[in-house]
Amino acid sequence: MKEQLQSFLDIATEAALAGGAELQRYLGKIEDSIIEKGRPGDLVTAADKASEAVILDIFSRHLPQHAILSEESGELGNQDNKYLWAIDPLDGTTNFAHQYPAFAVSIGLLIDGVPEVGVIYDPFHNELFRAAKGLGATCEFNSASRSPIRVSQTNELSKSLLVTGFAYDRRETSDNNYAEFCYFTHLTQGVRRSGSASLDLAHVACGRVDGYWERGLSPWDIAAGIIILREAGGMVTAYDNSPLNISSGRILATNGHIHNAVSKELMNTPPLSSWGEH
Ligand code: IPD
Ligand code: CA
Ligand code: CA
Ligand code: CA
Repeated sequence: MKEQLQSFLDIATEAALAGGAELQRYLGKIEDSIIEKGRPGDLVTAADKASEAVILDIFSRHLPQHAILSEESGELGNQDNKYLWAIDPLDGTTNFAHQYPAFAVSIGLLIDGVPEVGVIYDPFHNELFRAAKGLGATCEFNSASRSPIRVSQTNELSKSLLVTGFAYDRRETSDNNYAEFCYFTHLTQGVRRSGSASLDLAHVACGRVDGYWERGLSPWDIAAGIIILREAGGMVTAYDNSPLNISSGRILATNGHIHNAVSKELMNTPPLSSWGEH
């Protein structure tokens, strides 16, 4: 089983690096190809598509029997397949379109619905985060040697740094994360918003931030990050600390030490209207 997971990890790595090379090639050259997909601000570019094309080509050559759920091409193959790859060819499209350096390729394998292999490649910083169940989590910088990664040791909310994101439907729904963002800014040393969910998870895994929560996500945003974080010693659940349903759109991911505290405050976030009083 470990050999099989390792071979899946190798294929996912080849695909993520190939997708990342496409992103590097297109960076700063996509102005004419930026399209809004529906909601204002929900973009897709030639780079998303070019990255996805090379990734899908690698999977069709190496693992044609597996199913795929990829952001721009949707469902490929029977989605009830034991092996389902959740692929985000460019996570952080808005950043990419503005040449803001926080974007990645994210490729995760769900086996019977559970993330077991994950690769997140940040081509701008040349960082490659990888993990497979039971094999540990690593990061390679500038293609140099692979270092094991671990979550931070921070165990007090007041000493923690968190990261979050805002879903594309934030203008249309009152459940838009603004109250939580304010509340945790007040409770912690700070809250960041990177614009790339997969990098947020990778950065919890390697201890740069202590926790992450977000709503409105898709499996391709988080499948890889979940296994990388779990293998790095972190914890991933629903907001209320119950087992995660990867299709629910919501995730709470931390170093484990502050998990209960973040969950408790998430469930008790005061409404935004009360913030004038603080
Ligand atoms: C988005 C990014 C962002 C998150 C959004 C995602 P995309 O993915 O991960 O950080 O806040 O919810 O949809 O569209 O750039 O692949
Ligand atoms: Ca998108
Ligand atoms: Ca994404
Ligand atoms: Ca994307």
